[in-house]
Amino acid sequence: MKGIILAGGTGSRLYPLTRVTNKHLLPVYDRPMIFYPIQTLVNAGIRDILLVTGGQSAGEFLRLLGNGKDFGLQHINYTYQEGEGGIADALRLAEHFADGEPICVVLGDNIIEGNILSACEKFRRKPEGAHVILKEVPDPQRFGVPVLDGNRVIRIEEKPARPPSPYAVIGVYLYDHTVFDRIRTLKPSARGELEITDVNNSYIAEGKLSCSILEGWWTDAGTFESLLRANNLVAQSGANKMKLSSATGAA
Ligand code: G1P
Repeated sequence: MKGIILAGGTGSRLYPLTRVTNKHLLPVYDRPMIFYPIQTLVNAGIRDILLVTGGQSAGEFLRLLGNGKDFGLQHINYTYQEGEGGIADALRLAEHFADGEPICVVLGDNIIEGNILSACEKFRRKPEGAHVILKEVPDPQRFGVPVLDGNRVIRIEEKPARPPSPYAVIGVYLYDHTVFDRIRTLKPSARGELEITDVNNSYIAEGKLSCSILEGWWTDAGTFESLLRANNLVAQSGANKMKLSSATGAA
């Protein structure tokens, strides 16, 4: 399975913090935000990683991450998203890299306390359809929200004014190779973007989407409130204790 981190966008909800830099380079406690999704993939045993970014600070990712030595990687792949077409539009750029393999997609501003190892291992054994991960949250209207029938997702609504359940679909998605064909059929939403929720709904329409519930805390970090929460959660929980080889002096 290959890993893809989506770290483009203008980060407009964080202006003026993001006027001169990319959101995913902002600090979350003691390291740049982008370190967390990379660590999420590495902890799931994924070593072949593509970073999709964009904007004026794209070069800074190379300066910061190089070939991924801090994470024990020997190589990181990079690609550049022109313009601002949404999450599914950014994912489209990963088709060549995925090369028919199943993929794990992580949004660059999503931070988890635990890991996604068991979901990834299950999907690796049977890489068909899609798998999404849910987390109960106090403010589901900010996210993709599942309509549940028992423990089955029958639809996902993007940022619904009246959330149909107390869950958020977190920004970690497992997809089979059909994902790119599905993206090609999408139309821009009311906010002018190709929505990842529409990709997920296309799997649901064919009965090909499974879900699991995340253990441990989860947060995004794309608004002032959630960025502050991310900082506090990381600082309090010890998630920041992950060792960096450059910091410890290891090779
Ligand atoms: C995006 C997705 C949404 C998902 C969220 C997770 O939202 O569109 O479905 O729940 O990421 O962080 P956005 O980045 O627009 O807040």
